[in-house]
Amino acid sequence: MILLTGGAGYIGSHMLLKLLESNHKVVVLDNLLNSSYESIKRVEALSNKQCIFVEGNIRDSECLNSIFNKYNIDAVLHFAGLKAVGESTEKPLLYFDNNISGSLQLLMSMQKYSVKKIVFSSSATVYGDPDELPISEECPMSMPTNPYGYTKMAVEQMLMQVVESDPTWSVATLRYFNPVGAHDSGMIGEDPNGTPNNLLPYIAQVAVGKRDKLFVYGNDYATYDGTGIRDYIHVMDLVEGHLSALDYIVNNLGYHVWNLGTGSGHSVLDMVKAFEKASNTNIPYQIVEKRAGDIASCYADATKAHQQLNWFAQRSIEDMMEDTWRWQSKNPDGYTN
Ligand code: NAD
Ligand code: UD1
Repeated sequence: MILLTGGAGYIGSHMLLKLLESNHKVVVLDNLLNSSYESIKRVEALSNKQCIFVEGNIRDSECLNSIFNKYNIDAVLHFAGLKAVGESTEKPLLYFDNNISGSLQLLMSMQKYSVKKIVFSSSATVYGDPDELPISEECPMSMPTNPYGYTKMAVEQMLMQVVESDPTWSVATLRYFNPVGAHDSGMIGEDPNGTPNNLLPYIAQVAVGKRDKLFVYGNDYATYDGTGIRDYIHVMDLVEGHLSALDYIVNNLGYHVWNLGTGSGHSVLDMVKAFEKASNTNIPYQIVEKRAGDIASCYADATKAHQQLNWFAQRSIEDMMEDTWRWQSKNPDGYTN
């Protein structure tokens, strides 16, 4: 049985669907801080399978212990966390408490019940502004400029040192590049609270008429059209990467790190054009000042995951746009309609 923390969230709900479809038994632990139980109901309807849902906090050791006590958990997929970069700079202690202390409680409970396999959702943010592109796992981590990034780096360090102290653990740290898109049913997808921070949810809300125009943060970066370049990866490819990583750590002890990206970069203006094409809409935009903390380009060297996990991202930019549009147009108000 798998414990999936954060399973009601954007990526976690797609992970839950993939796990249920692959005949895994799953306990989801989520406090619904940034999500809705509706996502779980939709995943259960899509898969025609049920999970065990526990509404609770990863910082609550009693809750964690009762889960490990009651269910025979083989491995943990750890998605729960807060992820808004801007909010993290305003409320760093909240982020340290939730993401670092929460992960610590989870690891202590796992140790207590001898559950020693974990897949952790990290981020390419741990590379900072890289010296070389594409970014391979060999690229050193650099001190993140915001508390959110710091929490990812801190949890990675914790996991590494746990394995050093006890080599019977198996840990997969997955560094996501830019997850986008939705399941192709249009039933589950990303439902951000308030104004979206990330590019694609913002574009999708312009397309559906919820926002007037996109603000493009800077057009004088050293890139082919001056706008920022990122490695956008379809959320279904991303969760398939987790299944491969899970298989790997079942058979290989130790600490493992993989980038999950496509290996290709696209500019902000490329994304606008591709979305317009997929949705047959017009996305008005205005160039504004650069956003603090942004970098010009970031894309993965994804060969390590290909070689070791036999995984690579298969879905195209067109798939990402069409699936985002299907989700957004069917659910203009996310899960609340
Ligand atoms: P999300 O906010 O949609 O999902 C996170 C889930 O965790 C939510 O359902 C939330 O309610 C839950 N949660 C938060 N704190 C909790 C706590 N203390 N106890 C129990 N549940 C808690 O975010 P997402 O986009 O699905 O991201 C999932 C993971 O992937 C996060 O760890 C995030 O930092 C990481 N990540 C995301 C991206 C991205 O672009 N979305 C990129 C890199 C890494
Ligand atoms: C952001 C976070 C990063 C996090 C990642 C995935 C910041 C500084 N970084 O990265 O820590 O891991 O999300 O969750 O917030 N853009 C616009 N207009 C918008 C939104 C974005 O022009 O309204 C541009 C950005 O400048 C960037 C690109 O679009 O060039 C992608 O932005 P975004 O989706 O926020 O992802 P990241 O910047 O990679």
